[in-house]
Amino acid sequence: MIKRISIVLTLFILHACTQPEPDRTLGLISENGMVVSANPLATQVGVEILEAGGTAFDAAIAVKYMLAVTYPIAGNIGGGGFIIYRTADGERGALDFRETAPGLAHRDMYLDEEGEVVFGKSQLGHLAAGVPGTVAGMDEIYQRFGTLPFADLIQPAIDVARDGYVNSQFQAEQLNRFVSVIEQANTITPDLVRDEPWEEGDVITFEDLAKTLERIRDFGRDGFYKGETARLIVEEMERGGGIISYQDLENYQAVWREPVEVEYRGHRVTSMPPSSSGGVVLAQLLLGSEAFDFADMGHNTAESIHIMTELKRRAYADRATHLGDKDFVDVPINELLNPEYIEQRNSTIQPDTATPSSEIKEGEVERIESFETTHFSVVDQFGNAVSVTTTVNSFFGNKVMVAGAGFFLNNEMDDFSIKPGFPNQFGLVGGEANAIEPGKRMLSSMTPTIVEKDDDLYMVLGTPGGSTIITNVYQVILNVIDHGMTMQEAVDARKIHAQWLPDEIVLERGVISSEIRQQLEEKGHSLREINQIGRFQAIMKRADGTLEGAADTTRTGDSTALGH
Ligand code: GLY
Repeated sequence: MIKRISIVLTLFILHACTQPEPDRTLGLISENGMVVSANPLATQVGVEILEAGGTAFDAAIAVKYMLAVTYPIAGNIGGGGFIIYRTADGERGALDFRETAPGLAHRDMYLDEEGEVVFGKSQLGHLAAGVPGTVAGMDEIYQRFGTLPFADLIQPAIDVARDGYVNSQFQAEQLNRFVSVIEQANTITPDLVRDEPWEEGDVITFEDLAKTLERIRDFGRDGFYKGETARLIVEEMERGGGIISYQDLENYQAVWREPVEVEYRGHRVTSMPPSSSGGVVLAQLLLGSEAFDFADMGHNTAESIHIMTELKRRAYADRATHLGDKDFVDVPINELLNPEYIEQRNSTIQPDTATPSSEIKEGEVERIESFETTHFSVVDQFGNAVSVTTTVNSFFGNKVMVAGAGFFLNNEMDDFSIKPGFPNQFGLVGGEANAIEPGKRMLSSMTPTIVEKDDDLYMVLGTPGGSTIITNVYQVILNVIDHGMTMQEAVDARKIHAQWLPDEIVLERGVISSEIRQQLEEKGHSLREINQIGRFQAIMKRADGTLEGAADTTRTGDSTALGH
């Protein structure tokens, strides 16, 4: 307990030491390394690894395993994700540890006999789970870049899982919100389900998860994909009607990929290729944006929101048609990023009139709902940078905790196009390129990103938020490069999202005045307000070489930046 309190005090002191420049809001400034994540204990362990001489890669592994314990909503080993990295000597790369469809999956598995979607089948319960990729991803990154003993990176998470940690208000609220659906989805009720509500300050322990993490500590990826953990996963599947098999687990592989790279106003932007749509859509948005003077239009004016919306509609229409797992389908990345194609797409944008999305491509969908993913950014004292986004898709994934193993499984199967034109939980529609096939990765929107200026590290970026992830990363880049914001200001700025279908602009509450609202409506846009978009965690390398860590503390969550 004393240790926990000292962590909280340390965080407070470090934040309090930040000296804002006159009239500017700055995040935490550090000379050496920086970790920014959605959870204070995860951030803390990352910094401890850096202080012990570890690299950003070592720290990222430690942060990920700590999130698996202290952020079960999203930071789970039952999911998957992506890493974009830049080494101190400028090498850039991407690791894809996205979940895959089980071997028994088939394209119509969520449809009834009439070919209609069975509501909820791809989102709740055992059948919604893809084969988890996180442990393979961490193993792969460790094998290539790890420097400290692996046991040192995972042991802090094991200790906290066994000794317990103090629940934050945010986590208590989320547990209470989902406890009954967790009970409904499980054949063996997890300990998290209890009669009295969870409260801030309650101590939470994960004894079974501690044992699973010990198996991973002792046997690496085999501690998850084989032996006892695999047995527990397969038995869970058998009890609940799921289809993940021993063979699916053993066959799972993380994949190194060529990142998507694009120049934006003299900066090199490196982001995630398929199986995420993030990098391609972000690149389309940035290339399309070069033709417009956003600095002159002003931040979040009717003019800039209109142009950004029109760019987003076109890019998300392309996403729906062309993007999928490029190990299975031909994704025309070069064509989508070809300057002539971008110019042709831009040429259909009217300065004063919204183009109805139905005229860009046909389709009818409903609405964006909740999203649960998590992002963290790490820069070390050697100059390595790692941008990591992982997910179990919804809050607590498919709500099934693997009995005896202590972690929730994802509901990532919902990110496939389960029926052409039928929207997933983010309102995203898709077609053949993202249809279900055994072993295939479902299309993601996660967009871990690194930006360089003058061939040097500049920004490490990312956020959760389902389909809003890409447009959030896009706006943060514009906020810094076009609107001259600090990293913290760019993260804090209220965000706006659009995605082809539904044909609407989604705004964080209070982001625009009634006058700007009226101007947008006059251009033909429909607007909808929501409470928040994303939970951004970013780092900027400043002109003097110091790092600015910007945790998204203004939105809900326990986001924390710590330097050393
Ligand atoms: N599950 C959200 C995403 O991968 O985009």
